[in-house]
Amino acid sequence: MRYGHFDDDSREYVITRPDTPVPWINYLGTDGYFGIISNTAGGYSWHRDARLRRLTRYRYNNVPGDCGGRYLYLRDDRTGVYWSPSWQPTRTGLDDYECRHGLSYTTISSAKAGIRARTLYFVPQGETLEVWRLTLTNERARPADISVFSSVEFALWDAQDDTTNFQRNYSTGEVEVDGGVIYHKTEYRERRDHFAYFACSEPLAGFDTQREAFLGPYRGFDSPQAVELGRASGSIAHGWAPYGAHHVRVTLEPGATKEVIFLLGYWENPRAAKFAAPGVINKALVRPVIERWLRPQAVAAAFDSLKASWAGLLGVLRVDTPDADTNRMVNIWNAYQCLVTFNMSRSVSSFETGISRGMGFRDSCQDLLGSVQLAPERARERIIDLASTQFANGGAYHQYQPLTKTGNDAIGSGFNDDPLWLVLGVAAYLKETGDFSVLDQEIPFSDEGAASLYGHLERSLRYTLDRIGPHGLPLIGRADWNDCLNLNCFSQTPGESFQTTQNIPGGVAESVFIAGLFTLAARELAAIAAAHGRGEDADSYRADAEKMAAVVAEHGWDGEWFLRAYDHFGNPVGSARDTEGQIFAEPQGICVMGGIGLANGTEADASLATRTLTSVRERLATPHGIMLLQPAFASYRVELGEISSYPPGYKENGSVFCHTNPWLMIASAMVGDGDAAFDYYKRINPSAREPISELHRCEPYVYAQMIAGRDAPTHGEAKNSWLTGTAAWNLVAITQWILGIRPELAGLRVEPVLPAHWAGYTATRRFRGATYEITVRRASAGGYLAVDGQRVHGTLVPLAAPGSSVRVDAVLPSR
Ligand code: BGC
Ligand code: NOJ
Repeated sequence: MRYGHFDDDSREYVITRPDTPVPWINYLGTDGYFGIISNTAGGYSWHRDARLRRLTRYRYNNVPGDCGGRYLYLRDDRTGVYWSPSWQPTRTGLDDYECRHGLSYTTISSAKAGIRARTLYFVPQGETLEVWRLTLTNERARPADISVFSSVEFALWDAQDDTTNFQRNYSTGEVEVDGGVIYHKTEYRERRDHFAYFACSEPLAGFDTQREAFLGPYRGFDSPQAVELGRASGSIAHGWAPYGAHHVRVTLEPGATKEVIFLLGYWENPRAAKFAAPGVINKALVRPVIERWLRPQAVAAAFDSLKASWAGLLGVLRVDTPDADTNRMVNIWNAYQCLVTFNMSRSVSSFETGISRGMGFRDSCQDLLGSVQLAPERARERIIDLASTQFANGGAYHQYQPLTKTGNDAIGSGFNDDPLWLVLGVAAYLKETGDFSVLDQEIPFSDEGAASLYGHLERSLRYTLDRIGPHGLPLIGRADWNDCLNLNCFSQTPGESFQTTQNIPGGVAESVFIAGLFTLAARELAAIAAAHGRGEDADSYRADAEKMAAVVAEHGWDGEWFLRAYDHFGNPVGSARDTEGQIFAEPQGICVMGGIGLANGTEADASLATRTLTSVRERLATPHGIMLLQPAFASYRVELGEISSYPPGYKENGSVFCHTNPWLMIASAMVGDGDAAFDYYKRINPSAREPISELHRCEPYVYAQMIAGRDAPTHGEAKNSWLTGTAAWNLVAITQWILGIRPELAGLRVEPVLPAHWAGYTATRRFRGATYEITVRRASAGGYLAVDGQRVHGTLVPLAAPGSSVRVDAVLPSR
């Protein structure tokens, strides 16, 4: 069952009924001002930091769900009937309804009793405000008198404090109303130089700024008293819950249309010029901004340029394949999700409250892989931010705060995989841009000293080599990519955080996953070193990789697949010898990606890759994707930690943890199995799952972190949509390994590994200033690559001059 459909030409997903299984959300904003918005206008906004600069309130896990948003109410002043044009919060029946989630904007349209309303929500680029543009049309045969009410509930800035510290917060709220603009200025009197404002393009019939005055005592957003009565009370909030509500009266002749613009914004004044009079906000700087954005022409132009900017960005790669789900994910939604994820890390979604998490080190490094082609300058900046949270020993803070760019002490460090991801992130940046200068940039460590970025990467590898366990494999520390495999933790205390609790000292648990990741990272750094004129370093990193690969082949192989780890007692994890958790997905993917067990590795391990991929297919693959492990842990295993705390089939305990699936797609492509690679790709492709939306439940236009596994009663149900490393890795898997358009240090490689039923595809790729027009087809005889009609040796397209356009023909040997 579907709740809408894709409109690929408009780059929109169109939701045609409001009662989606969970709120289907979108993101507003591209620079510093952001919001989430659901298909029924739920959500909230913040400036830069979702915890510390929260503009509006949202109630997670509320009943009814999706509570708090950018609400409008319409009231027919002749009958007193009122409704929400976005369905929520009144949930009054509508004659029709449509939500279009586009790239950084959302429109919600509906009609009721001959009154059509369409609201466009977006953030003009470079501004710290959002526009709500309401277009009202009277489709009746007679004139209509309509009251429009707007409504936002202000958050008192620090979202954590806002939801807990009521003894203080009920007394601190302050507002000003001036010229029809509602200013929210809690704590402006003291140390804050910022305020929020809520403005309207029309003369007001009234306003409210005190929540209870607008809603009425004991009432909710679904039945505000002011709307019911058809008049606001002009309340001024002193403490309690500062609110923003405008009341506008509109008379519409039959067929007439009226546009009303609302602005919700954030403004920061220079400290020395905060006040116009004691306690009164100086509005001289913000006023022109408000005036400008209340003008319809400015709004229309900004919206056009937002759309144009996305169209330009997505022009980096356009593909036309035989598969519609592939096309729309690659050309539109997967790329979009990558950039959103790059911006948000794992902080704000329907599943992340914006309070508890900063920017994850490994998360942000991996996000780079999917977004560097879209935002190379920002990728460079991100790399430097990340490297600055490294320690001189090569380790890294697990998270950092976006506002201060400092490491987060509360979560600390010691996730032993973290530093290695930096190598992968930097490698992706270099491959895309060829900007080797970044390697020489001097970057401080968070504890002491500084080194070039190249030096940081060296220390990343060194960090692993300095922490080797009894089998010669890397020590896992607090955890590796799998945050929930806590082998040194032994937690027995209810509620204790597995992420931060004291580990037993001198833990010797080892990770085969880190070994695979190390091998991959060491090979990447070897290639970087070689291209950067450091041949000796390259040799030594390559030797490190070979050595680690050999250790994995000897101590990390269980017989039919790669082991996952060795626990504190030296027992294998992810082994046929156990009764549960016999095989884990992630080492199978990452070890093959690191070149372990590929035919071009050592003679002895030549068959490991294909054997382990067969095991994955037999034991982990389901129609809903590849499960993280099997069999799921039925009960808590203290020596394994959080992983076994989840009920079987959920999250790290054997769900289809989507992040790891592309590793197996890539591994399959590396062994030349295009059928398996593409099959796995399709199983979790959200667009391909759209027909089973009632089971999948999350948005069909973005990846979710997990889909419940076979052991779960809700097998096939997705959770934690939007902010997941799944986005980046799937884009990498499909574009670089299956379609095979792969940036490398020396240029663009075109080496498709397609499913047998595809005859070919075409693509356009902008790369280092040139445009590559790529055609892939099959031939009856042997394959070859031709550039501008000339056959070249191998599959690497020589770098073209910036500004030029190159024709690439990839002819694949027949099936
Ligand atoms: C989740 C992980 C997450 C970790 C850190 C765990 O509870 O299951 O997916 O990485 O918390 O926030
Ligand atoms: C989500 C976290 O953000 C990511 O860092 C981790 O690798 C996965 N969960 C798996 O635990």
